[in-house]
Amino acid sequence: IDLQPHNTLAISARSAHFARVQTLEQLREALAFARERHLPILPLGGGSNIVLTGDFPGLAIQVDLCGSTIVPDDSGHAIEVAAGENWHQLVMATVERGLGGLENLALIPGKVGAAPIQNIGAYGVELCDRFAGLQAMEIASGELHAFSAADCEFAYRDSVFKGRLRDKYIITQVSLRLPKEWRAHTDYPALRHYLTEHHRGCDLLTPIQVTQAVIAIRNSKLPLPEKIPNAGSFFKNPIVDSDSYLNLKAEHPDLVAFAAGDGWKLAAGWLIDRAGWRGVRRNSVGVHELQALVLVNPGRGAGVEVTQLAEEIAADVRVKFGVSLEPEPRYYP
Ligand code: EPU
Repeated sequence: IDLQPHNTLAISARSAHFARVQTLEQLREALAFARERHLPILPLGGGSNIVLTGDFPGLAIQVDLCGSTIVPDDSGHAIEVAAGENWHQLVMATVERGLGGLENLALIPGKVGAAPIQNIGAYGVELCDRFAGLQAMEIASGELHAFSAADCEFAYRDSVFKGRLRDKYIITQVSLRLPKEWRAHTDYPALRHYLTEHHRGCDLLTPIQVTQAVIAIRNSKLPLPEKIPNAGSFFKNPIVDSDSYLNLKAEHPDLVAFAAGDGWKLAAGWLIDRAGWRGVRRNSVGVHELQALVLVNPGRGAGVEVTQLAEEIAADVRVKFGVSLEPEPRYYP
């Protein structure tokens, strides 16, 4: 089938086989089917973090496992949610019950099962801050295994599922923990600025107010995939050591960066913008006018158009700033 409706960059590419699974047993059967035929597997969540660079010779599996529970306990609330649930709908289900903890992660596209893979994050909060554990099916055996937070090896936009265990597991269920004593996380400059303007500061906020602020900020600069196909931030924000940061800062006083451990996380959007790429259009693809970190595919071009543009941008940023950019979405095949 054509995977165009299954990826938010709206790239047309064919998958040799396709399965939609709604139960663990169906998932197990799909994996067995692929194993017998030695087919590679492409797990589909919301398709918001993949670039299809050509036809996929294996089995694409749409993971439609559904259901969630939110249970109060001594230290807050425990959430168990199946991989196929929509991430943003989960966030809304919690804040609408007055439960805080996920509000900074509102409006992130995609499904729950994809969230741990790249440790989704926004406005100063990452999935790992609310993570309790997950369940995943081993592709080779069809067995279910439990993973703790430590097992997942979370880091900035990274986990064990992008490294050592890449292509080894399909995440089937995620457990989260919402704190009993909630406080708003409003340190991220854009969020603080918005709340200062709209709520006269960051005191006495409710989770729903923070959610609305996050939604407003995202809508003001991130394109909706249904309107302009895109995969969110196309590059990770690069982390550089202090010396490199100080040299760059001396040369570019308005460089945007955040302290990150021993080093500094640079705003890749700023680098790309400053290199002159914001709003540039190349045939079917281009760089979003309002956020240079987002590559868009308004002409519904092929994946290679997107990856070629990305390579050109990365090469230019390397020449101009001496910084390497690493793509955030996964390329298939
Ligand atoms: N900037 C520019 N020009 C641009 C884009 C950004 O000057 O064209 C500047 C902004 O003015 C701001 C700074 O760069 O001072 C950072 O921009 P922004 O707040 O938009 O955040 P970002 O670093 O570009 C990251 C995440 C986003 C997340 C936001 C908010 C990554 C790769 N991206 O973007 O996540 O929503 O922070 O926390 O970490 C995603 O991963 O798909 C994603 C959208």
